[in-house]
Amino acid sequence: MASWHRITASSSLLQVGLLLLLLSAQSSGKPREKCLGDKSCQPPRPPVVLIPGDLGNQLEAKLDKPSVVHYICYKKTDSFFTLWLNLELLVPVAIDCWIDNIRLIYNRTAHTTSSPPGVDIRVPGFGKTYSLEYLDPSKRSVGMYFFTIVQALVDWGYTRDDDVRGAPYDWRKAPNENKKYFLDLQKMIEEMANKAGGPVVLIAHSMGNMYTLYFLNQQPQAWKDKYIKAFICLGPPWAGVAKTLRVIISGDNNRIPVISPLKIRSQQRTAVSTSWLLPYAHSWSRDEVLVQTPTTNYTIQDYKRLYSDIGFEDGWLMRQDTEPLVTKLTPPGVAVHCLYGSGINTSEAFRYSDKFPDVEPTVVFGDGDGTVNLRSAIQCKQWVGMQKQPVTLKELPGNEHVNMLLNFTTVAYIKTVLFSP
Ligand SMILES: *[C@@H]1O[C@H](CO)[C@@H](O)[C@H](O)[C@H]1NC(C)=O
Ligand SMILES: *[C@@H]1O[C@H](CO)[C@@H](O)[C@H](O)[C@H]1NC(C)=O
Ligand SMILES: *[C@@H]1O[C@H](CO)[C@@H](O)[C@H](O)[C@H]1NC(C)=O
Ligand SMILES: *[C@@H]1O[C@H](CO)[C@@H](O)[C@H](O)[C@H]1NC(C)=O
Repeated sequence: MASWHRITASSSLLQVGLLLLLLSAQSSGKPREKCLGDKSCQPPRPPVVLIPGDLGNQLEAKLDKPSVVHYICYKKTDSFFTLWLNLELLVPVAIDCWIDNIRLIYNRTAHTTSSPPGVDIRVPGFGKTYSLEYLDPSKRSVGMYFFTIVQALVDWGYTRDDDVRGAPYDWRKAPNENKKYFLDLQKMIEEMANKAGGPVVLIAHSMGNMYTLYFLNQQPQAWKDKYIKAFICLGPPWAGVAKTLRVIISGDNNRIPVISPLKIRSQQRTAVSTSWLLPYAHSWSRDEVLVQTPTTNYTIQDYKRLYSDIGFEDGWLMRQDTEPLVTKLTPPGVAVHCLYGSGINTSEAFRYSDKFPDVEPTVVFGDGDGTVNLRSAIQCKQWVGMQKQPVTLKELPGNEHVNMLLNFTTVAYIKTVLFSP
């Protein structure tokens, strides 16, 4: 019975669907194409593409490994399973298996990274929203990410995976190792714009903003004029994030007590994106002490020495590989709306005891959103007057880096950008 109902229900749905298809084919067709590139003629809803930040979408793994680090670890799996975010894998002992699967191996000759032997990693859900709405497929609230924004869009008439779509990627890597991602992103934007008959709005969070800037810097201006209506930047770390210094020196468990920072450090160091996000010289003064030990003061000029002193020489190569990607902060050449939190204690410098680097530091706080330093987020101000498209900055006092995605003010701002002519 139940299945009959389902069949009947779905066949009538199919009929409605066909009817809608016919109706929309009648009302759309050729004339809508003319809207593309002609800003005076906008469709009612610009399509939206979401670009997540570091750790900001699911990753899956399939294993067929020659060896494992502990007897409880799986050596072989029949299919892909969720590697991020999967809280069951982050408990003691299991976390050793997890680290050995998610870590990257750096090749100093090729300047590229790869997964350990027998570990196949994939990014699920490109073009869909699920993999960045909830990081944990069981939809636990702890992993809630873009859900509030996507649900608001749906309430305004959008359809998931149709005119609001996600662009997840392998956030362990920097853009230099994600070339195919940018081709896929370009193709998806073109498809969505052509279908809607008008340009797309990009909404990025955190490191996703640097990815998006890199992408836009590669596109010809004519392409951007035709396909991009606006770029909404949420919590952008344009000048890097001081917190990443702690991550590479002594590890950061994000205050999850069961995870040992020193243990997770080994994995965090292998992610190239961590070194990509170290503070940039254009926004930190040359004599500001970022890391202090009883014997040494490290400033922005001392990264090479710092990497060497913590026994992570590959990190210096990773930094050199990635630093030029967006360091010039070339204007994106599209309308920009920069939203960022402030007024929250944000790590700015670290003081270590003589146990450096295998010890937790004392943290010196400054202004920011709890993750991104305020001086980093506001660098979009550089673009005012440097491009003909408008650049708007909006400070959101009291907003934390991830919680800003849940805040009504953020959501309302997005709405005004989407529905403004
Ligand atoms: C590192 O890359 C080089 C150049 O592409 C290659 O010849 C070499 O086999 C790689 N090393 C390892 C260990 O994969
Ligand atoms: C590091 O800098 C602080 C001031 O920021 C200074 O008091 C200290 O003596 C310096 N330490 C070393 C080893 O140079
Ligand atoms: C912010 O940091 C300062 C020390 O720099 C501390 O005194 C204060 O309690 C912190 N505030 C919060 C809300 O954690
Ligand atoms: C949302 O953002 C506004 C503007 O910054 C702020 O005043 C408000 O406290 C925030 N609300 C929450 C729940 O964080």
